[in-house]
Amino acid sequence: MNASEGEGRRTFLGWVSAAIAGAIGLVMGIPLVGYTILPALKRQKLSWHDVGPEKGLDPSSPKEMDCIHSVTDGWQKTTTKKSVWVVKDERGAMTVFSPLCTHLGCGYRWEGTQQQFYCPCHNSYFSVDGKVLEGPAPRPLDTLPAKIENGRVLVIYKEFKAGTAKKIEL
Ligand code: FES
Repeated sequence: MNASEGEGRRTFLGWVSAAIAGAIGLVMGIPLVGYTILPALKRQKLSWHDVGPEKGLDPSSPKEMDCIHSVTDGWQKTTTKKSVWVVKDERGAMTVFSPLCTHLGCGYRWEGTQQQFYCPCHNSYFSVDGKVLEGPAPRPLDTLPAKIENGRVLVIYKEFKAGTAKKIEL
């Protein structure tokens, strides 16, 4: 064997070693990527939350109800308590509003004496059906998907971009 044949063999063996090492790295890396990166890329799953009984909802008085909201973001799970506003009209139709003012996202409240929702941050007023009556709020209150099942109010909690005329889900 001359010198160039020996060098060629060494180069070939070097390529074979690199290919084997690459294949081993790939086989070991796929589960690692699946375990660490993919969960973080998955979007949170939206689900129905029981916010309380339908009984006692009064057409003249929107009710603030608690929504225990759990978000699994990749490997991290957080649980927060949000409130939603539930309105039942005289015909029995139910509407559920996000608790955040559409102007800059402050919390608002129901003013029973005026029969309006009021956001104290910049003085926006909304009617019982969520329309803007006064103030800088650029759109009506945001409605949330809601239904009644077995006498319980179920809601899908979502958040929307504040300060825009169009309702844009975050
Ligand atoms: S955040 Fe409600 S009026 Fe500005």
